[in-house]
Amino acid sequence: MKGVVLAGGTGSRLYPLTKITNKHLLPVYDRPMIYYPIQMLVDSGISEILVVTGGRNSGDFLRLLGNGKDFGAHLNYTYQEGEGGIAEALGLAEHFAHGDRICVILGDNLIEGSIRDAVEDFRRQPAGAKILLKEVPDAERFGVAEIRGDRIAGIEEKPERPKSHYAVTGIYLYDASVFEKIHTLVPSRRGELEITDVNNAYIREGAMSFAYLEGWWTDAGTFDSLLRAANLVAETRRQEQETPAVAVRHA
Ligand code: G1P
Repeated sequence: MKGVVLAGGTGSRLYPLTKITNKHLLPVYDRPMIYYPIQMLVDSGISEILVVTGGRNSGDFLRLLGNGKDFGAHLNYTYQEGEGGIAEALGLAEHFAHGDRICVILGDNLIEGSIRDAVEDFRRQPAGAKILLKEVPDAERFGVAEIRGDRIAGIEEKPERPKSHYAVTGIYLYDASVFEKIHTLVPSRRGELEITDVNNAYIREGAMSFAYLEGWWTDAGTFDSLLRAANLVAETRRQEQETPAVAVRHA
């Protein structure tokens, strides 16, 4: 399986922090934001990774991350022109994926634990896709899953009245058919190709599984969530220093 980190976009919700740099290069406690999704992939056993950047600061990713050897990874890069959305950015990974399965992480998603189990489960799944859900108090900020029994009935992107408290995290596992699905998408009202439309295509085929993410999860794309992410990382690091057993569990 290969990994894809999506790190394009203008980061307009973080303006003026993003006036002269890319959102994913901003600090989250003691590391640049982009370190976290890359580390998440490497920790789950995925080392062949494509970073999709965009905007005016894409050269800085190369200067910061190089070829990935500090992470024990092989990094590849591509560039998204304009603001076509998450699914458009993912479409740029088609040649890189080359028929393999992919684990896609949004560059501003951070977690406490590991996605190793989900990745292993997906390796055993015959085909289709898998997403990770997290119960949140502010579901209207995210893609929200409607759950019926043991399956997902559908996902709504940023609904005014969410049908559940389960946010769809920015961690997605796809088989190679994801690219055919992307080719059929039409832009949403905000003019973007939506990852939620890709996921709903898998749900319609009955090919979407899901799991609940353990430990904390946050995005970092707004002032409040960026601060929250830094505080959560700082607190987790403190706990790991105080109780080495926790560090082992999260390693
Ligand atoms: C994106 C997705 C949304 C998902 C979220 C997770 O939203 O569109 O479905 O729940 O990431 O971080 P964005 O943060 O780009 O608005």
